[in-house]
Amino acid sequence: MRSKKTLFSIGVFLLLSAMSLIGSEAATPSPAKEIPISAEMKEKFPIKAHHAKLSLKCTDCHENQGDNPENFKLIGDEGCLSCHKSKQYLAERLKFMDTLHVNPHNSIHDGPKLYCDECHFEHQKSDNMCLSCHSNDVKLWMRETP
Ligand code: HEC
Ligand code: HEC
Ligand code: HEC
Ligand code: HEC
Repeated sequence: MRSKKTLFSIGVFLLLSAMSLIGSEAATPSPAKEIPISAEMKEKFPIKAHHAKLSLKCTDCHENQGDNPENFKLIGDEGCLSCHKSKQYLAERLKFMDTLHVNPHNSIHDGPKLYCDECHFEHQKSDNMCLSCHSNDVKLWMRETP
């Protein structure tokens, strides 16, 4: 009787250990180290709704910028294009705007050469630079810069 009980306990023990092993493996799928981000930093550097709904983490953009969020740097065109492919690809996606030559990603003045941060910002409202000269007509051409 007693030895049966012992065998049973050993069985349960082994089962539980196996489960906890599987469990801990599933909980850490990526080798990348999570950087803790304070509530204050999250408030100071809010993420655009279109990125927030994808649950982008700070380090999806600020990749390899160390583990102190205070020291994160600009991410440049390469940062955006690591997910958004290429300027040519973006120009193609808004091709329907070419008919009026108002594709912001392939403009009549600069083609697809502009820097993303001439119009798009992540942590503050974007600011369409075309507006600096075409303050009235641009509202008819394009929707607000996302
Ligand atoms: C880690 C990947 C990633 C990075 C880095 C990233 N994005 Fe995105 N972004 C996405 C995905 C995925 C979507 C949703 C699908 C799409 O529209 O392509 C998106 C959507 C957008 C949209 C769509 C908004 C709309 O209304 O359709 C804009 C604008 C945008 N990103 C701009 C940028 C800019 C500018 C940068 C650089 C500052 C950037 N993104 C960096 C993944 C990324
Ligand atoms: C001259 C201003 C300007 C520049 C420079 C610019 N954008 Fe945009 N972008 C816009 C505007 C305006 C829209 C909205 C267009 C519309 O739908 O009316 C837009 C839309 C987008 C979209 C959503 C539409 C789509 O194609 O999926 C993405 C993503 C995007 N931009 C990413 C970028 C990235 C990445 C860069 C840098 C390579 C960049 N943009 C450079 C003004 C700009
Ligand atoms: C979708 C890409 C993206 C994500 C996600 C993102 N950032 Fe940024 N970050 C940028 C861009 C682009 C800039 C340049 C300024 C701007 O566009 O607002 C920037 C600038 C910064 C800067 C200032 C750098 C400087 O020298 O001015 C800090 C600090 C920063 N981000 C922290 C964060 C933190 C903290 C998070 C997470 C809560 C975060 N970022 C998430 C793209 C991103
Ligand atoms: C430094 C000032 C300046 C900036 C910035 C600027 N433009 Fe222009 N743009 C002009 C001038 C000047 C003309 C020629 C005079 C005219 O026709 O209004 C012009 C003409 C145009 C025209 C043809 C004429 C028309 O009104 O239909 C289009 C389309 C245009 N710009 C689109 C853009 C787009 C898209 C951007 C942003 C990527 C932009 N412009 C940024 C100054 C500017």
